[in-house]
Amino acid sequence: MALVTTKEMLLKAQKENYAVGAFNVENMEMVMAVVKAAEELNSPVIMQTTPSTVKYADVEYFLANAKVAAEKANVPVAMHLDHGNSFELAMKAFRAGYTSVMIDGSHSEFDENIAITKSVVDACHCAGVPVEAELGKVGGKEDDLDGGAGGYTDPAEAKEFVERTGVDSLAVAIGTAHGVYKGEPKLDIDRLAEIREVVDVPLVLHGTSGVPDETVSKCIERGICKVNYATDLRIAFSKGVKEYLSKDSEVIDPKKYNALGREYVKEYVKSKMLVCKSNNRA
Ligand code: 13P
Repeated sequence: MALVTTKEMLLKAQKENYAVGAFNVENMEMVMAVVKAAEELNSPVIMQTTPSTVKYADVEYFLANAKVAAEKANVPVAMHLDHGNSFELAMKAFRAGYTSVMIDGSHSEFDENIAITKSVVDACHCAGVPVEAELGKVGGKEDDLDGGAGGYTDPAEAKEFVERTGVDSLAVAIGTAHGVYKGEPKLDIDRLAEIREVVDVPLVLHGTSGVPDETVSKCIERGICKVNYATDLRIAFSKGVKEYLSKDSEVIDPKKYNALGREYVKEYVKSKMLVCKSNNRA
């Protein structure tokens, strides 16, 4: 089927108390792996690309890959811009045909974050494309985006932010960070419940690679409807490629080693869809 937006997908998840996994893709094999995983589990799925990924190859390349994969599949697939870091990039993805856009103004002051978010919401909503924003700072480093030390989302501010921007979903900072964790992450789950009480749009968890599955489940019980995984997909793909190359150092056909990377990504994605409980929700 054609690409769908994240709007209905996340509202359905919110209503039925599960989450949709959002998986960062960086090449054709990862796109194929993520959609195949969704098909095997009859799950809705979101693919997303960061600014550095779309700098490596343009939004059109990734969108075209995602479109083909979605059209061949019989589960709902959305293509989302992850951490859009400027109005211009958000518009580039929107105009290209991304079916969901994040504008991340979390590094700016509250009013400035509201202003940039609202400008993207106003543009995207004209064509029915939903927008995700971030309030508070998810720590760690994702590609060339440095989340810094992190500052947790304040529930009262979250309420005001959603009301003033009209945003469709909100990424919250409750102690997760992008990249590889040094120890076990400690999440402020109570804060999540407090945010949920005053904010009615679907909430998004970033920096989920390395967060224990039981903790992710608790977050979903408290209102998380979209769960982002990136680092672990990179690790899975690279593991497959390295494993193949270590067994056959003479190989010159990229299809051979990429296929093992693709298989490992598919298995990883399936395991996380089960954590999100999005299987059989297509
Ligand atoms: P991880 O790299 O920690 O999985 O974070 C992914 C993410 O939040 C993408 O926005």
